[in-house]
Amino acid sequence: MMKQMFLGTEYVDSGCYAISGRRKAVLQAVLGTCVGVVIRDREAGIGGICHLLLPEPAGTYEAWPKERYATTGLPLFIADLEAHGASKKRMEAFVAGGALVGPISNLDLELDVGGRTAEKVFEILAKEGIPVVRSETGGYFTCNLRLDLSAMEPEIIPPEDLIPATEIDLKKPTEEELNSLISRVRPIPQIALKITRMIQDEQSDLKDLAQEIRQDQVIAAKVLNLCNSAFIGLGRKVRSIDEAILVLGDKTLLQIAVSAYVEIFYSSHNHDGYSLCKGGLFHHAVGMARLCERLARKLKVVPPEVAYTAGLLHDIGRAALDQYVCKAFPLFYRRTQVGEESLTEAEQDLIGISHTEAGRRLAEAWELPNILQAAICCHHNPSQAKKGKTMACLVYVCEVLMSRFNTGLELENMSPAHMESSMKTLGLGPHMLPKMAELVPAYISLGPGALMTDR
Ligand SMILES: [Fe+2]
Ligand SMILES: [Fe+2]
Repeated sequence: MMKQMFLGTEYVDSGCYAISGRRKAVLQAVLGTCVGVVIRDREAGIGGICHLLLPEPAGTYEAWPKERYATTGLPLFIADLEAHGASKKRMEAFVAGGALVGPISNLDLELDVGGRTAEKVFEILAKEGIPVVRSETGGYFTCNLRLDLSAMEPEIIPPEDLIPATEIDLKKPTEEELNSLISRVRPIPQIALKITRMIQDEQSDLKDLAQEIRQDQVIAAKVLNLCNSAFIGLGRKVRSIDEAILVLGDKTLLQIAVSAYVEIFYSSHNHDGYSLCKGGLFHHAVGMARLCERLARKLKVVPPEVAYTAGLLHDIGRAALDQYVCKAFPLFYRRTQVGEESLTEAEQDLIGISHTEAGRRLAEAWELPNILQAAICCHHNPSQAKKGKTMACLVYVCEVLMSRFNTGLELENMSPAHMESSMKTLGLGPHMLPKMAELVPAYISLGPGALMTDR
């Protein structure tokens, strides 16, 4: 299977850099809007990749990791290379990425985040006196920047060369087979659904639920693991559920408990069809949950706790289709990443149902609140939402942001067609987009390994 080509390498996620001496391994950054910089000192045998998200900090919303911005991350990377024994006099740079990815909207052209990041990178490299041996920036597609550490040789590869066209005989399931595919999805436990309903209700007393979590050993252990992961970033270790309640409060603890249930749910359905990284469905869900919550907190248009749950559950339909998508991964990859088809169009065409429709059927069967149903079935086209439109718009905007800044790891090609109207619904002007990009959770850059709890 072609995906093995990806899995054999060490990924450098967005907002991160990696430095190494010579060894038998390949570093790789999958780049879309982001810009990747390889710097090597062949004589010292030291090199690395720096994967930058944005040109420079747009505000002071939070103390974001310096590694994600060109103006702060690149100097850090260069200094760290020197600390590892590389000499600035011998350094050589290779730059890639900064593309306008997916279907292009006026907003993208106006902002051209990738182009501005690349500009900053070239400026800094010139100032530091580091020659650029090769650069391939701009354009409209994702690319892969790789560094073979044994030879200290970089490579810039377009995605179509990584996943060659393969003849796949994909038999569309019949309506009956589709129904059984959806009915086989093991539901999220009742308690998790109860929590999602109660979190919405300001009046409800959450104490009893917290007690229930404390008594379920498996979930309590997972909750503690998540509390101590980079995902929550408490900055201190919590050793018990009681301590976690004290630090986080009942509501947040219960949100984390729902995340733990969703992790179990996804891990039992995840065949890595939608994602190139292990545990991709949960990684994406939890990243979206954090982003939706942050944006909701900033905009005050929907309750942040509910936005978190909406982000967590928005792609539940993928659980039903993941096995199918996995079988035809190269086909889906070509159509959504190399071609310009949206994921829902490709699903509709190849399987006969989209993950949003599969999600709608699951959400209805599980009797999720209307606002969550809207997020699940309309997050690719919020104009279709009758109830819960604001939430659908919020999740859509977050999905577009995620697909722009975490390109390549997900089989997502979000159409920006609804961006302007959704931003309007949320009371956002186009000038707010760089600030919104800053809300993309920092821990995403740590990769799924930093996020997953023990299995
Ligand atoms: Fe999504
Ligand atoms: Fe989706």
